[in-house]
Amino acid sequence: MIRSVAIGAVLLLGLASVASAQDKAKGEAVYTAQKCSLCHSVAGKGNAKGALDDVGSKLKADEIRSWMVDAKGMTAKSGATRKPEMKNYTLPKEDLDNLVAYLQSLKK
Ligand code: HEC
Repeated sequence: MIRSVAIGAVLLLGLASVASAQDKAKGEAVYTAQKCSLCHSVAGKGNAKGALDDVGSKLKADEIRSWMVDAKGMTAKSGATRKPEMKNYTLPKEDLDNLVAYLQSLKK
């Protein structure tokens, strides 16, 4: 009994990590489709003025989410001065969730 619970837990953990790897891959596709690289770079590709390589350590998930849905508010809050400034994105919930998962995974 205890053993089967343990096996179940291991299986669940395995599934969870597979799902999140998929979310990240989907999020990367959203990043590409939305042309975020016009103003941002990841791993040296894109606009070097807006490197996002360490954004996963710098910002929490809900802060990253706020940048997507309320870029204007976050620009004001953070005092960012780079132009052109970021606009608000209206993405389907799943795309937004995956994009946030992808950005959160970007850590140096
Ligand atoms: C028109 C240019 C532009 C586009 C397009 C753009 N951004 Fe931004 N973004 C900015 C600017 C300017 C900032 C303010 C911080 C800076 O100077 O990099 C910013 C900030 C951010 C931040 C916070 C970074 C930090 O270090 O605090 C994240 C995360 C982000 N953008 C993600 C995205 C994603 C994902 C997309 C595509 C959906 C995107 N941006 C599209 C211009 C842009």
